[in-house]
Amino acid sequence: MAEGKKLFIKTYGCQMNVYDSERMAEALGAEGYVVTDRAEDADMVLLNTCHIREKASEKVYSDIGRLRPLKQAKPDLKVAVAGCVAQAEGEEILRRAPMVDLVVGPQAYHRLPEMARRVAAGGRALDTDFPAEDKFDHLPKLRSRAAPAAFLTVQEGCDKFCAFCVVPYTRGAEVSRPAARILSEARALVDCGVRELTLLGQNVNAYHGEGEGGTWGLGRLVRALAQIEGLERIRYTTSHPNDMADDLIEAHAEVPQLMPYLHLPVQSGSDRILKAMNRRHTAEQYLRLVERIRAARPDMLLSGDFIVGFPGETEADFDATMQILREVNYGMAYSFKYSARPGTPAAGRTPVDDAVADDRLQRLQAQITAQQRAAQDAMVGREVGVLYEKPGRLDGQLAGKSDHLHAVHVHDPAGRVGELVRVRITAAGPNSLAGERLGG
Ligand code: 5AD
Ligand code: SF4
Repeated sequence: MAEGKKLFIKTYGCQMNVYDSERMAEALGAEGYVVTDRAEDADMVLLNTCHIREKASEKVYSDIGRLRPLKQAKPDLKVAVAGCVAQAEGEEILRRAPMVDLVVGPQAYHRLPEMARRVAAGGRALDTDFPAEDKFDHLPKLRSRAAPAAFLTVQEGCDKFCAFCVVPYTRGAEVSRPAARILSEARALVDCGVRELTLLGQNVNAYHGEGEGGTWGLGRLVRALAQIEGLERIRYTTSHPNDMADDLIEAHAEVPQLMPYLHLPVQSGSDRILKAMNRRHTAEQYLRLVERIRAARPDMLLSGDFIVGFPGETEADFDATMQILREVNYGMAYSFKYSARPGTPAAGRTPVDDAVADDRLQRLQAQITAQQRAAQDAMVGREVGVLYEKPGRLDGQLAGKSDHLHAVHVHDPAGRVGELVRVRITAAGPNSLAGERLGG
């Protein structure tokens, strides 16, 4: 085993990639790699890529190009590409970017140590298989450092096939990890100091893992996790409206550890566009679902994703999107201009004029920003839980997330990272809230 080699990882895209990057760092740790945050020092640069939108994928190639001077200065530097671009493009990356030594898809990360050895011996390595074995069983079990808030993948892949989306192709079919494995990983994380877990899955609320007595849904899994002593907060992301089972909605009313924040993308407010997107629900059905969720947990902060400029979108369709944005009163939302992804059903359809789509995106974003500000302002005077995650920018300050996932900083010289405290929100800024710690 070679010692002391340095690994620089750049992570693009979603939280699952953040989780995967940590697991890859651990896997390569077993090969003697130590993570560095300076690409210039690295012996291996690993790009954990995202293919969800065109911009994200193109950025990977330009970032590879930017590594050229480093590689010239250090011919032994290894360049690895992981993630969804690796999965989608595979060999094409090796052809298009001769500098790349290793290409590994998201389902093959447990094979990374062996691939790194092949590359160290001067070869190139490619693996974009979807092996039958659970990669998580083959990745090292414990992380060295435990931040108070951690991610835990419970489900991967997606069977929904929304007409715009590459995920079913890059991450494959839905697979849920067995409940017992998730519970034991969660216990190990809590033993390392983790107090908040975000359960990850491309379609996390479709979780249907093997568990005691049969198949467990996400609601059951959440209830079992809530039994773990020391685990104070549970979140999950990302969810599809059609998979919000009654039991999961009830868990929001009954499990205090389940936080009042839910990312529940609707993408569009127009039934015509929802149908063309193959979302399989109407705006009205979504609104009724939101009502039920809010009945279970009245202070729920909802977050969403929106796509503007989907092929065929008219001004009236866009108005319906603006309408649902206001009606649901999302406290947080992400908006994207549609980009055609190769191999998806919508890719061949006539696009909306680019300038029109840009204009709609701007209008949508202005409304989202206004709503986010209003949601933050509405927190002033309220008492919330805050989990301290890191020191704040000012002396004596700590920064963390509120129950509703707002960034909060608190002047608390006696506080410690990892503490979950009660805080009264005193002010709202553009990106974060300020609060004071309450006694007791
Ligand atoms: N174009 C634009 N946005 C997209 N998303 C997924 N695919 C595309 C695409 N082709 C957005 C959706 C999804 C989020 C993760 O990214 O809103 O919920
Ligand atoms: Fe993509 Fe989400 Fe639709 Fe699955 S449910 S296809 S991940 S947008």
